[in-house]
Amino acid sequence: MNILILGSGGRESAFAWKLAQSPKCSKLFIAPGNAGTGQYGTNVNIAVNDFEGIKQCVLANSIDLVLVGPEEPLVRGIHDFFLTDEQLKNVPVIGPQAEGAQLEGSKDFSKQFMERHNIPAATSKTFTRDTLQEGFDYLPTIGLPIVLKADGLAAGKGVLICLTVQEAQQELIEMLTQAKFGDAGSKVVVEQFLQGIELSVFVLTDGNNYKILPSAKDYKRIGEGDTGLNTGGMGSVSPVPFADAEFIKKVEDRVIIPTIEGLKQEGIPYKGFIFIGLMNCHGDPYMIEYNCRMGDPETESVLPRIESDFVELLLGVAEGNLNEKELIISNKVAATVVCVAGGYPGEYLKNKAISGMENVRGSHVFQAGTTQQGEDILATGGRVLAITSLQDNMFDALQQATADASRIYYDGCYFRKDIGFDLI
Ligand code: AMP
Ligand code: GLY
Repeated sequence: MNILILGSGGRESAFAWKLAQSPKCSKLFIAPGNAGTGQYGTNVNIAVNDFEGIKQCVLANSIDLVLVGPEEPLVRGIHDFFLTDEQLKNVPVIGPQAEGAQLEGSKDFSKQFMERHNIPAATSKTFTRDTLQEGFDYLPTIGLPIVLKADGLAAGKGVLICLTVQEAQQELIEMLTQAKFGDAGSKVVVEQFLQGIELSVFVLTDGNNYKILPSAKDYKRIGEGDTGLNTGGMGSVSPVPFADAEFIKKVEDRVIIPTIEGLKQEGIPYKGFIFIGLMNCHGDPYMIEYNCRMGDPETESVLPRIESDFVELLLGVAEGNLNEKELIISNKVAATVVCVAGGYPGEYLKNKAISGMENVRGSHVFQAGTTQQGEDILATGGRVLAITSLQDNMFDALQQATADASRIYYDGCYFRKDIGFDLI
């Protein structure tokens, strides 16, 4: 069968790498992809939100299945677009319709969903411009620090952690009355701060059956020791040592089952990934957020640990018989170190030629923000490469991925040398 992946990051490189290994995959296309995805399939220069362009690509290449990487096309309704188009309606899309994608697209929707289904989460309330004064009254009642979240998609920047009530008041004013995050901040969720260790659990569902994929931990801050600005993710490890069978069972009983059942009860169809962002608070899971897709760079650590044919699993989602498919997870440990551009996550250096990828020894390089120019591969995005190593134990995986990241050169290249070492 012919498969189209939408997206252009490290996550999509990992998907392309994995799907290309399946005997079921005849031709693989990636739109728009990056310099690395071209190794596994054919890049097509179409943006992820260009639904008409995607339609033409699907028809021209007889695509049998579409896997959506990022959230934006899902929130904008790409799956609905397929279902309502005469020529596309029989082409399965992996990723929820717009209604289900609200789990990520609206923090207010997702908080209310958690509340309706008794899913453990931080206490919160949502405010708008009209209820600003009520918001002010609420701020001093939930303890410090105070978490403010723009309701809509804000490219990972919509969450603020305020250390004082005054700071939270100021931010609330800026979000609600001065459009600090544009439309995304026209509603703001004010939330209690959860103390604990964060991790991500990934679920693949056909809307009825589900499989729990390997869990992962993501390192979001730019600086070593988890300091400095938030980024899209500087590294990841899988599995997460503290997410043992007992903890995952709690996640399944308290979060995963109520989520799948809740979607069914509310008549919300959902075929795709559910990314469950959790805080482990003294051994109990509390929801931070849902995402309607896989994480990046978590995917780069999760997929190498899946031994089963991933196309079979996606077909299970498409055909509604995921329960009949096998999910085999390796006992090995995967570690991913992300090489970013100089200056990232602020203004960053672009178009620097990358060298040394051929010197990587015990890792796989998943390209992310790269572009092919003649013979050269240029660093063109903020997160440039994800270096993943799969080894028998966490120490070896971390050491190998970190050592291999240092074999790569481009002007301004930076990576964290401490990814995962807090877990050893
Ligand atoms: P999000 O955009 O929802 O992923 O939030 C970004 C980050 O903010 C999360 O990954 C957490 O590190 C942090 N965060 C969000 N909500 C909370 C909370 N209620 N308590 C503590 N940290 C939080
Ligand atoms: N690594 C976090 C995310 O994909 O949202």
